[in-house]
Amino acid sequence: MNKTIFSGLWLAAAISMPFGLAFAETQSTVKPEHGDYRDWRLLGVSLRHDKNSIRAIVGNHVAINAARAGKVKPWPDGSIIAKIKWAERKHPNWEQATVPGEFTAAEAMVKDSKKYAETGGWGFGIWEGKTLKMLDQEKSAPCFACHLPMKDSDYVYTLPNLQ
Ligand code: HEC
Repeated sequence: MNKTIFSGLWLAAAISMPFGLAFAETQSTVKPEHGDYRDWRLLGVSLRHDKNSIRAIVGNHVAINAARAGKVKPWPDGSIIAKIKWAERKHPNWEQATVPGEFTAAEAMVKDSKKYAETGGWGFGIWEGKTLKMLDQEKSAPCFACHLPMKDSDYVYTLPNLQ
């Protein structure tokens, strides 16, 4: 191998390596903006008999820490509360027990008092798979309207009494 080719190869390796490393790092550290509610902890549960629907209400670490510290009036910025909904059904082996059936939807409230000032500091969204799609102001209006009666609890229905 002559000297010019050798140093050319060395140079190519030296140049490409840091890029390769940087790319690998970016790949492994990229996270969805809102994280994944499947990793969050429980804030509450509810049953809507009128809708035959069973729900788990979970929070990200900001929401859970605030709930445990009793600092939820208002909930701090960065809190995300998710409501996961399933159709209710009787347990096939124990019909007195009502358990989650088919998954129907996962909804979210994201606290950012500046960004969502118009809707009590909460952004409203719906998960599509693992991606949380935030609703625009028009589509959030019915969500916010129905949460208005809970103004004294910062628009949140769930009482974080499981913490
Ligand atoms: C018809 C009234 C109504 C509408 C409309 C509504 N909610 Fe709610 N929401 C409730 C009630 C009642 C609860 C608490 C009980 C339950 O459903 O589990 C709740 C609970 C929640 C929770 C759990 C936190 C909390 O407040 O307890 C989230 C998150 C949530 N709703 C998101 C949404 C989103 C997003 C929308 C719009 C796409 C929406 N809601 C529309 C009535 C409503």
